[in-house]
Amino acid sequence: MAGKTQIKNILSPKRLVGEITVPGDKSISHRALILNSLALGNSQISNLSPGKDCISTIHCLRALGVKLTERDGKPPAILISGVGNKGLTEACNILNAGNSGTTMRLLSGVLSSQHFLSIITGDISLRSRPMKRLIEPLRLMGAEIYGRHDDSLAPLVIKGKKLHGVSYALPVPSAQIKSAILLAGLFAQGDTTVKQLQPSRDHTERLLQRMGAKLESDNTHIAITPLNIPLTAVDLHVPGDISSAAYWLVAGTIHPNAKVKIMNCGINPTRTGIIDALLAMGARLKIENQRLEGNEPVADLHVESSRLKGIEIGGDLIPRLIDEIPLLAVAACVAEGKTVIREASELRVKESDRIESTSRELSRLGADIEELSDGMVIHGGKALLGNEVRSHGDHRLAMSLAIAGLVAGGTTSIQNARVAEISNPAFWLELDNLARY
Ligand code: S3P
Repeated sequence: MAGKTQIKNILSPKRLVGEITVPGDKSISHRALILNSLALGNSQISNLSPGKDCISTIHCLRALGVKLTERDGKPPAILISGVGNKGLTEACNILNAGNSGTTMRLLSGVLSSQHFLSIITGDISLRSRPMKRLIEPLRLMGAEIYGRHDDSLAPLVIKGKKLHGVSYALPVPSAQIKSAILLAGLFAQGDTTVKQLQPSRDHTERLLQRMGAKLESDNTHIAITPLNIPLTAVDLHVPGDISSAAYWLVAGTIHPNAKVKIMNCGINPTRTGIIDALLAMGARLKIENQRLEGNEPVADLHVESSRLKGIEIGGDLIPRLIDEIPLLAVAACVAEGKTVIREASELRVKESDRIESTSRELSRLGADIEELSDGMVIHGGKALLGNEVRSHGDHRLAMSLAIAGLVAGGTTSIQNARVAEISNPAFWLELDNLARY
């Protein structure tokens, strides 16, 4: 089943049971790769996300002169020879971030201060996603950065410059933009402060602190002082990705005969919105064996078949589950009563317009969904029925539709299901391991 049109047929299993681990967190993996490349010394990262997005980051870093070596073993690891503050070199070709917004935005923050020219592009989806929000703050720091379509779209052209610190209020709760500014601030003259109205994932802040950067943060402000000595390289074991675990958390609650354990999963509070939402819906979900690994909280998660009820979500919860909203919509289809998702217009500029694509495809399975400009209203409790659906080239939609297929009658056929490999190439194997037909 090769090619873009790979179709996955999903049937409802009799039971969904087992214990699994999910791949390493994608957001943490990008940061571990980039920051250790900028550090002085060697580091070893295990349980790195195997998703195509992180492979894009690896390819870009190699093109910029960093030596990254894959090492087989249990677990496999990647060895990074950090180049220090001034060690990156000009790439001899256009950098390609593929489908990965995190690769493009974080690297643009770094490249803005380097002494050479960079051009960075991406696939058709990434080239349609907003970049003005990145270009504007970097220009305020003195960066020379241009984009297509009046500086709003990639490809981006960056002529590295000496930057100066900035005090910047984020207009959207975006961890990618926040991180790009902090990474630019690392090599600027003078301190940089980022103000955020709503907290977004804080993996950059945690890792920078761990690697010796002078960074202070509370919920609303992050202040960084430029490096006077390079970052210290750190070995890391990346925790399991809660955004990958979320599919099994939802499957485990909505399937009528399920019991699933997910081991070693990251539970950073800026990412656990999906757990909070499921608990509020009545999920039988337990968090056990909580611990801290490499400055990131980790736990084992247990979930069982549950009777869910609809909820209303918005505000600060949205950035904490932004990537899980298509999946939450699946849970809402099965829940009793109405679920309202608001203040989530950021979904319109993800890998697909996730308000439009989620509403359209779940409707094809019989869901009662109303599209709002900034969210969705879902009237739950209507039985879903298998049909042909499309992933819209969006990994999270492909996997959400698979979870809907686990509770839908008949066969759910997902077109271009292969795109799941963007974040989790093992997704279909995990499904085979848990489902009993
Ligand atoms: C990410 C931040 C979020 C998220 C994306 C990963 C990151 O994007 O949707 O999947 O790793 O920083 P925004 O920063 O655009 O909200």
